[in-house]
Amino acid sequence: MRINASIPIHRGMEKLDKDAFRKSIDVLAAEVAPATTHNLLKAPEMRGVIIDLPKIKSVVPAPEGKRLVLTRFTDESDLSLETKQYLESQSAKLVNHTINLDYDYWTADDILSSILPAELVEGAPSGYAMVGHIAHLNLNDEYLPYKYIIGQAILDASKNAGIKTVVNKLDSISNQFRVFKMELLAGEPNYVVEHHEADCRFTFDFSEVYWNSRLHTEHSRLVEQFKPEDVVADVFAGVGPFAIPAAKKGCGVFANDLNPNSFKYLSKNITDNRVHQLVRASCEDGRDFIRRVVSRALADPLPSPEAAVSKTQVLKAEKAARKLSQLGQLPPKLEVHQPKRSRITQFVMNLPDSAITFLDAFRGVLSPENNDGRDLSGLYKAADLPMVNCYCFTRELEIERAEKDIRERVEEKIGHPLGGDVSLHYVRSVAPTKEMYCISFRLPGEVAFGS
Ligand SMILES: C[S@@+](CC[C@H](N)C(=O)[O-])C[C@H]1O[C@@H](n2cnc3c(N)ncnc32)[C@H](O)[C@@H]1O
Repeated sequence: MRINASIPIHRGMEKLDKDAFRKSIDVLAAEVAPATTHNLLKAPEMRGVIIDLPKIKSVVPAPEGKRLVLTRFTDESDLSLETKQYLESQSAKLVNHTINLDYDYWTADDILSSILPAELVEGAPSGYAMVGHIAHLNLNDEYLPYKYIIGQAILDASKNAGIKTVVNKLDSISNQFRVFKMELLAGEPNYVVEHHEADCRFTFDFSEVYWNSRLHTEHSRLVEQFKPEDVVADVFAGVGPFAIPAAKKGCGVFANDLNPNSFKYLSKNITDNRVHQLVRASCEDGRDFIRRVVSRALADPLPSPEAAVSKTQVLKAEKAARKLSQLGQLPPKLEVHQPKRSRITQFVMNLPDSAITFLDAFRGVLSPENNDGRDLSGLYKAADLPMVNCYCFTRELEIERAEKDIRERVEEKIGHPLGGDVSLHYVRSVAPTKEMYCISFRLPGEVAFGS
């Protein structure tokens, strides 16, 4: 008989009993001198005979310095005549050997296929998303009675993947700050993660702020479109997945989020990624931010990308100068050229549920009334008006209809038709009848300078 290496079945187990997953498998083995093992492993007569189980070695030590080559059979009578004759020619002695498997041997999928009712095995939640050390699941109701075993099985089987905490997201996000409520299924109740995206390090409390790893391609796509000279106003910045990579490429950034916890981690991430010269963070309502950020950029302009680089060079040069003066030598004079940037060139609005409803805040945003009486028509010429990159959802599943729907809603809010500089990018499907898009358009002058 072939060995039976399937997991013991414990359908309906709701409380994990690790001992229940112990299993002993008796196998037939060929005992040989160490020098002969290689022959057996390569011999055509042994093809299909040697054991082939994940994590199980096919050659194990035996008494008196010998080796056991394990087969996938339980009995000598299972071997073909050809195989038996070959083993005899190699002076192999057939013996019995026991392989002991325990809970740690099995994969999370194995454990779930054992404990779940048969009808739930197919479609079992084998996949999970990772944020830092947290694996998060979105369990359907029928799997909830088994949630703790599912969590523990994922934690135990995937330790090497760096998982320390497994959570189940409790609802779809409907609160203002787009934060998931979550329940701990297994591991440490520690939700402060360190996550890497686009060569940047992000620290945040996953239970207090919005983060979606699935957006990483969209974050990169938009940031790639920015030029280092751009000044970006990120209205709903979260913990900085647009703002910080943009600053890393040289953009000046005004990054805002109303959630105080997002602001706290955004500020930390700005420091940790050493982009503090190029990013100004704020914590206010998006509408107020849009109205204020133009004046803010005038009052507190951002250094140019070169200046941000030269600042690092200055620090280095200062260090070198200190050394020289300790040696009694005169350090060279340092000159820092710091042109400033005071014109916003890009707005980012990633709050797809309601970002469009904030667009009326752009009416008159560049007008003298909104900017302490200043005339900004020289700074913001028609071709230099900011691009607005606004995320939104639509229930229109066909691209032309989606475009029409989004465009109409945008134009209604800004109170003016969009000009020629408009593009629409499909981001992802969030539900069977709901898609996420990013519309990018140049702010019409009539809107920006209107009353
Ligand atoms: C969908 S998240 C996007 C975060 C980040 N830009 C990203 O791509 O991961 C939207 C963010 O908007 C923030 N937010 C919600 N309402 C806001 C408001 N009225 N003003 C400013 N920020 C707001 C939330 O706290 C959340 O961080």
